Amino acid sequence: MPDARITASTAAPVGAIDRRLFGSFVEHLGRCVYDGIHEPGHPTADEQGFRQDVLDLVRELGVTTVRYPGGNFVSGYRWEDGVGPKEQRPVRRDLAWHSTETNQVGLHEFAHWNAQAGTEPMLAINLGTRDELAALDLLEYTNLPVGSTLSDQRAANGSVDGFGVRMWCLGNEMDGPWQLGHRSAEDYGKIAGRTAKALRQLQPDLDLVVCGSSGRGMPTFGAWERVVLEHTYDDVDFISAHAYYEPHDGDVDSFLASSVDMDRFIEAVAATADAVKAERRSDKTIFISFDEWNVWYQKRYNEVEKITGQDDWPIAPRLLEDVYTVTDAVVFGSLLISLLKHADRVKAASLAQLVNVIAPIMTEPGGAAWRQTTFFPFAITARLAQGEALSVGVDAPVITTKLFGDVPAVDAVVTRGGDGAAVFLVNRHRGDAVTVRVEVAGLEDARIAETHTIADPDPDAANTLQDPQRVAPSANDTASLEHGVLTVVLPPLSWTAVGLTV
Ligand code: AHR
Repeated sequence: MPDARITASTAAPVGAIDRRLFGSFVEHLGRCVYDGIHEPGHPTADEQGFRQDVLDLVRELGVTTVRYPGGNFVSGYRWEDGVGPKEQRPVRRDLAWHSTETNQVGLHEFAHWNAQAGTEPMLAINLGTRDELAALDLLEYTNLPVGSTLSDQRAANGSVDGFGVRMWCLGNEMDGPWQLGHRSAEDYGKIAGRTAKALRQLQPDLDLVVCGSSGRGMPTFGAWERVVLEHTYDDVDFISAHAYYEPHDGDVDSFLASSVDMDRFIEAVAATADAVKAERRSDKTIFISFDEWNVWYQKRYNEVEKITGQDDWPIAPRLLEDVYTVTDAVVFGSLLISLLKHADRVKAASLAQLVNVIAPIMTEPGGAAWRQTTFFPFAITARLAQGEALSVGVDAPVITTKLFGDVPAVDAVVTRGGDGAAVFLVNRHRGDAVTVRVEVAGLEDARIAETHTIADPDPDAANTLQDPQRVAPSANDTASLEHGVLTVVLPPLSWTAVGLTV
């Protein structure tokens, strides 16, 4: 395969990389919370039942914000169930995942866990089956200084200062027919607008996220964003986007090009938001919170895992426990590249999810916690991608895909911040290595500090309980830097990061 050429300049940045781009997501779903982050009987559990081995991995992953408590779960959730003495908390049926919710983890426990993880909480409000009054109560309980009934109740429950949550999602996937309380863009836009206005009366400096589409393939995509923003433009800061990718009918090449879909999705949402901006003659720009993204084998969930029995409401069942391969990690790494390439508009993102449920971290009850293949591109990117993303030109051979036509085999992004820079690269070609020349004007004095490549002769290789270290990144010894030009060989089907000191 011929060589590829990547060009960039430190004088042409796309935008500052918001640290919230490296967020994740903890939902009351399957074993994400119970038997995931929280397992009171585990040898590493703290006095509140949180696994310290999992927390060590969360910190290593470099996650910045954590969205909670759902997801689909939130649309049937009463936040009040999760506060107060644990033995008095209600046990409920969770309709989203056909499970039993014990409410042993709620707001206070999640805040305790966040403090240990060093992460910023991002709370989702139930706008599916509840309204602005319940949202106001939640904000009062969560953030307000003592002196009102609910903030005093919080203090009595152990938190005098409150939790200081800045970022709030106004519901979850309200465009989806599967969502409790699913409604039209018009109806959702109205309740989201009213809720945003009400919340800001209690606390003006919130960062509010209105629901965008659950995927670019939704039939209402585009119109949904426009109508919702027409109702909420002045009162919100972000519109959400969600995307999950998997191979369809064994079409691996299209799967490897999934980030093309993510690129188009982001650009379409930004264009729609800007059209509403123009209509309103507004000076304000709406940013994107890509608050659910990942590889997810949804077909498997729908066909094999879904719990439907009326007498079957398990506690913390094994759901959505996808085992990620090398191929998945390459796609995942390319999605991170897509998010960084749009750093001017995507100012927050949440990898869905964090533990056990379509997650980079897996756990065994009473046993080990380990890193999935997707753990590595996330951890390396979160650590190396500092400062701002640079606009990148890519000149590469193409692969032909069913879904996206001809797509460059190589995609890349360059970041620059502090005394460092980094180049992130993906080779989507399954058979051929590619030699890439990376020329970045302004980085002529850079030196290579570290290299990491994920590739394997077996594209289906994965880490499991039995073999937790089967896949790991290795140094890429082909990388060299001369006269400001970085040259590196990307193996077939691989993801690579090169850290530079400047
Ligand atoms: O992350 C799993 C689920 O995917 C979330 O609960 C929902 O918001 C989305 O459909």
